[in-house]
Amino acid sequence: MMLIKEILALPADSREIRVYGWVRTKREMKNLVFVEVNDGSCIDSIQCTFERRETGEEDRSGKQPRGENSSAGADVFVPPENLSTGASVEIWGRLVPSPARGQAVEVAARGLRVIGEAPPETYPLQKKRHSPEFLREIAHLRARTNTSGAVARVRSRLAFAIHEFFQSRGFQYIHTPIITANDAEGAGAMFQVTTLDLEALARSGAPPDYSRDFFGKKTFLTVSGQLEAETYAAALSRVYTFGPTFRAEKSNTTRHLAEFWMIEPEAAFFHLEDNMALAEDFLKTLFSTALRDNAADLAFFDSHIEQGIIDNLQSLSVSRFAYMTYTEAMEELRKNADRFEFKPYWGCDLQSEHERFLTETVIRGPLIVTDYPKEIKAFYMKMNDDGKTVRAMDVLVPRLGEIIGGSEREENPEGLEQRIIGLGMSPADYSWYLDLRRYGTVPHSGFGLGFERLIQYVTGMANIRDVIPYPRAVGQAEF
Ligand code: 4AD
Ligand code: MG
Repeated sequence: MMLIKEILALPADSREIRVYGWVRTKREMKNLVFVEVNDGSCIDSIQCTFERRETGEEDRSGKQPRGENSSAGADVFVPPENLSTGASVEIWGRLVPSPARGQAVEVAARGLRVIGEAPPETYPLQKKRHSPEFLREIAHLRARTNTSGAVARVRSRLAFAIHEFFQSRGFQYIHTPIITANDAEGAGAMFQVTTLDLEALARSGAPPDYSRDFFGKKTFLTVSGQLEAETYAAALSRVYTFGPTFRAEKSNTTRHLAEFWMIEPEAAFFHLEDNMALAEDFLKTLFSTALRDNAADLAFFDSHIEQGIIDNLQSLSVSRFAYMTYTEAMEELRKNADRFEFKPYWGCDLQSEHERFLTETVIRGPLIVTDYPKEIKAFYMKMNDDGKTVRAMDVLVPRLGEIIGGSEREENPEGLEQRIIGLGMSPADYSWYLDLRRYGTVPHSGFGLGFERLIQYVTGMANIRDVIPYPRAVGQAEF
């Protein structure tokens, strides 16, 4: 059994072929019936053409009969009643050159079997444009649309490319825990994991006793695998994680999910500059991979979702990223303060509007902003000599703003402990993390790429909820 992607790459040599997939469209002409079949192996459907001739009717086309049994007077093709959009089918015939534009081959079909019907009265995916909002409600069927299918193929290819990128550079893949007792970002936006009987607790009015909880302490879904990845970088030198992460932020935006996939490389003996170079190389490699291996999907996004996306990715994959410190970025923003709803000042967190202004208007491309004020960054970042800024780096891109966040890590045990205490956290909770600095400490750096933001960037999709099969966001956990 061949996939449609493989069939479409064959020469039109009249070989016998069988096609399996779902009907996208059926067009009935006087003498011909065209059935477009898609199996998701690629964006293109294969056209299967049936000749329909009444018995005794002459063949006036002068062309060769399409199927071996379809010469005038032989079989009459009558499309079955249940041959409709969404039905699954098996179609057999010969692979012949296609007279239609945009396809080299088609099936001169001889027979067809409807495997599973999709009654048009109830099947929600008819041949018309559906809004992303509507498709999210039927997320179990939306993979059958061109857009969701193309997104899924880009996701799959880039997930693999991420492994290829790191594996070819000596990074080992580390599986970090999903349930954890520590807050890796120190930001408090965590989902609690518990087996305590919340209803019984509420009835009793007693405070929860976590020593009786499943793990004997309070636990959460991880917001990042970084801290555990650091422990392995301090042994294997170069590691990366690629797993699900969870944030209970109530950000109802087009770029936030409550459950998303993150890639986090961590490398010993890497300084911030090495980290920045790695991030740039990483993104460019992923852009080139998508351009090369998802060309047809990207052509679809270019013509239907975001015009110019291919040109944009092409130029990005060869140009240098721009660099700027936070302080320089702030000067740029303050010169243009009247443009912003949130007035920028040194020390403020960069808002989405600021990030977009910097990349879209000032730089017109990817920008790495470094050396942020320590107050707005996580506790583990390495302090600069000025005592005010840390060795942080955010990669900002047009349309999205932040796509990568990372830093050089504080490798000095006293410095790190001071930061933990200063933020009101308990050094005892992080004693294992401090051990990395107490024993054989090394300079090291890493970053996190939000996988869905990458997919958004590469496909041009406007809403992050449409680049993951089943989005989880505030008030949304269907399927
Ligand atoms: O900037 P963040 O919070 O950094 C970390 O978690 C570090 N531990 C990474 C590291 O240095 N190893 O998150 C990293 C990236 C962001 O740049 C963004 O792309 C993505 O993760 N991200 C989200 N993506 C979707 N929904 C959310 N709620 C996200 N929060 C962060
Ligand atoms: Mg960040």
